Amino acid sequence: MAVRPSSDMAKFKEALKAAKQVVILSGAGISAESGIPTFRGAGGFWRKYQSSALATPEAFRESPSLVWEFYHYRREVAAKAQPNAGHLAIANFEKKYGNEKTITVITQNVDGLHARAGTKNLIELHGNLYKTRCTKCKEVLVNTDSPICEALANRGAPDAKVIGSDIPVKSLPHCKKCGGLLRPHIVWFGEGLDPNVLENAERAMSKCDICLVVGTSSVVYPAAMFAPQAAARGATVAEFNLETTPATPDFHYYFEGPCGTTLPEALSD
Ligand SMILES: NC(=O)c1ccc[n+]([C@@H]2O[C@H](COP(=O)([O-])OP(=O)(O)OC[C@H]3O[C@@H](n4cnc5c(N)ncnc54)[C@H](O)[C@@H]3O)[C@@H](O)[C@H]2O)c1
Ligand SMILES: [Zn+2]
Repeated sequence: MAVRPSSDMAKFKEALKAAKQVVILSGAGISAESGIPTFRGAGGFWRKYQSSALATPEAFRESPSLVWEFYHYRREVAAKAQPNAGHLAIANFEKKYGNEKTITVITQNVDGLHARAGTKNLIELHGNLYKTRCTKCKEVLVNTDSPICEALANRGAPDAKVIGSDIPVKSLPHCKKCGGLLRPHIVWFGEGLDPNVLENAERAMSKCDICLVVGTSSVVYPAAMFAPQAAARGATVAEFNLETTPATPDFHYYFEGPCGTTLPEALSD
């Protein structure tokens, strides 16, 4: 039977101290305090569109121009953002305890802020805003150009009054090798995860003694089932969020509040 999760920070910190295998599973909420909108809540719109509706293969097929404008905007926003106290607390924890514990960060975020904060053992489940994939030859490349192509300069305004997007496909980013249209190397809604990435994440999840679930609504699969599965096999799971989620009753600890405040406390000595 579900028991209300505890909010006893001292007890959680004891469990963390004793743990040998630690997983930190993060979602868009950890980057909210860096000024990057989440997909749920007030920030979940770009122009008149629901962000999650543009992060789909259907939207890209229908209008690569519109989807590239959306991603150009997200690349520019994330490039200007800085890692916040939550990202830094995680990176410092790894720096300090990485020799005595296996610490793995599994993120659903595509903004690159964990890596920029200094996290080394990182699994990016859903790809990265600064990687492209050729729709023809499938080559994946890192690309941090700003703008990513001339035609996207000064585009991507999130203003709801801007209507349509009319960049000719030939002016969008293209593969230098085969000439194919490039797309963001991101796992869109309705797409499967890279099997190797998924396997690495599942391996870390299956071994962890403790899992911190940070700033994720726990509704996007398969990541949504990672922590409940770990809790079901007896791992200690602690959730850090502004509000409860469908998975909260499965967990041992729940720390309410902005994770830029709760994580530095949870991960300090
Ligand atoms: N930063 C990014 O890279 C980014 C941003 C938006 C969406 N996405 C993608 O969209 C999908 C959305 O799923 P999701 O679960 O990651 O995000 P989500 O948008 O569904 O949920 C965000 C969660 O974070 C919580 N939250 C917001 N601010 C917080 C704070 N300061 N401290 C603690 N919690 C906070 C919210 O209550 C919510 O539960 C993912 O697949 C992800 O790839 C990524
Ligand atoms: Zn190509």
